[in-house]
Amino acid sequence: MNISQSMIQTNFHDGQKAKVFTLTNKQGSSISLMDIGATWISCKIQLESEKREVLLGVNSLAKHLKQEAYLGATVGRYANRIAQGKFAIEGQQFQLDKNQGENTLHGGSGAFDKRRWQVLDEKTDQITFQLVSVDGEQGFPGNLTATVSYLFSDDNEVLIEYSASTDKACPVNFTNHAYFNLLGAESGETCLQHSLQINADKYVPTDEFAIPLGHLQSVENTGFDFSTEKVINQDFMLDQDQKLLSGYDHAYLINADKQDGKQVAACLCSPDNALEMQLRTTKPGLQFYTGNFLTNCPSRSEDAYKTNAGVALETQFLPDSPNHPEWPQASCILQAGEMYQSQTSYQFQVK
Ligand code: GLA
Repeated sequence: MNISQSMIQTNFHDGQKAKVFTLTNKQGSSISLMDIGATWISCKIQLESEKREVLLGVNSLAKHLKQEAYLGATVGRYANRIAQGKFAIEGQQFQLDKNQGENTLHGGSGAFDKRRWQVLDEKTDQITFQLVSVDGEQGFPGNLTATVSYLFSDDNEVLIEYSASTDKACPVNFTNHAYFNLLGAESGETCLQHSLQINADKYVPTDEFAIPLGHLQSVENTGFDFSTEKVINQDFMLDQDQKLLSGYDHAYLINADKQDGKQVAACLCSPDNALEMQLRTTKPGLQFYTGNFLTNCPSRSEDAYKTNAGVALETQFLPDSPNHPEWPQASCILQAGEMYQSQTSYQFQVK
């Protein structure tokens, strides 16, 4: 059964089936997207002797609705955490839905990853989804129209473009929550033997609830230093900051000259050296998450995924940015009448 068939065995909450689209390029690689959560559900890269699924995912909508790991989903209105679910814009206080203890994670309950997006445009190499979120949803101000588009090129680049507009000022921060395992999502291997390079001199230390402490810390002489390529496992769980979150689950401030969407911001390489993934983005932050809480997450097989089964590299504003206007990045507040625009690309290189 192909992915389109397997994802439409059950209906979504609205009584309708999910819509699944597969884009195939000249190399024989393909990606699949689903309108529920504007989710990236599959990424099969053609290698010399095999086609390799490198994206963690599930094989039914029922499993998709059960998983809580945001597998491949478009996350909004605000990716990552907002402390106490609180922020203020020009003196006006807002209280968001708190869905992770005392804090708001990935937009609160019933956020963009849980919604059906409209299909705005469908081409052979590009799918565009749109979602309207009304004023007050999850506590956010303003009627927001969000668009996400996935473009798959013949040179194995998945380009994700986001745009949004609002009629009231509101924090906006979209990301895609793909988890990668370049050895194969169902290989049973963890992501920890992958090599990683992140062009970032600073990361964001947090408390045990992953809420930023407020300062940016140099990666120098810490296990957070990925400025030159290293195997993820090398310094895994070495730092106190990692121990608090059972591994890497931290935001990096991408070096200023690598935030243009053209330079490589991060690079991931499979342990068998068969595949490399380059990440480019116009966003200032990168959440590097080693899947520390993936245990029992449904997969494409009978077995659940194990801890560290995949690595997420989520491009975004730094976490809790609405409460840290002092940080060296553009404002995360989208003003009424302005256009939010960002892009991230994941390019797969067969070696
Ligand atoms: C983000 C967070 C993680 C975890 C996942 C979802 O990446 O940083 O702590 O909550 O989402 O499971």
